[in-house]
Amino acid sequence: MNSAAIAEVLLTQEQIIQRVGELGQQISDDYKGKDLVLVGILKGSFIFLADLVRNISIPLAIDFVAISSYGVSTKSSGVVRIIKDLDEPVENKHVLVVEDIVDTGWTLKLSYLRENLRAKKALSVHVCALLDKPSRREAEVQLDYVGFVIPNKFVVGYGLDFKGFFRNLPFIGVLEEEVCR
Ligand code: IMP
Ligand code: MG
Repeated sequence: MNSAAIAEVLLTQEQIIQRVGELGQQISDDYKGKDLVLVGILKGSFIFLADLVRNISIPLAIDFVAISSYGVSTKSSGVVRIIKDLDEPVENKHVLVVEDIVDTGWTLKLSYLRENLRAKKALSVHVCALLDKPSRREAEVQLDYVGFVIPNKFVVGYGLDFKGFFRNLPFIGVLEEEVCR
């Protein structure tokens, strides 16, 4: 699978850099003077998180969780579990969960991540998603920071994958229909 499978560039590298810079500035302002931990959801958020933290000017810690929904197709399945939990306590810290894309919303909802972090005595839990596909939403989830609202298309690149591939593309592109099938 290579970039010939990309039908359209939805967001260029320049657009992403610009927007991630703005988000970093906003987060730096909002969390000034607060003990901040960014929790990246593996694997999709790793590139976004890496760029985002370099645009945040206040002290912060970084941790990761991995959430698995069974199956690797373009359709999310109904079974969701946390397969890698936090390494460090979040007690008395402000947590910002970093996600690549929120589609149906089931991954965030059914993982009970927010409830889990609150139970670990985080002072606050907010969510920052690079991409939001609201037209596909089935479960209500609160998104506090959103990079881009996108149409109902399956996208890859900048950390997002199809069957494990395309994460390394520096832009966000729409996959050719025949590749998705
Ligand atoms: P949700 O549970 O439907 O909100 O889906 C969230 C997860 O599904 C994301 O974290 C991605 O891993 C995956 N996903 C949803 N839409 C896309 C897409 O367009 N491209 C790549 N992955 C996606
Ligand atoms: Mg994901």
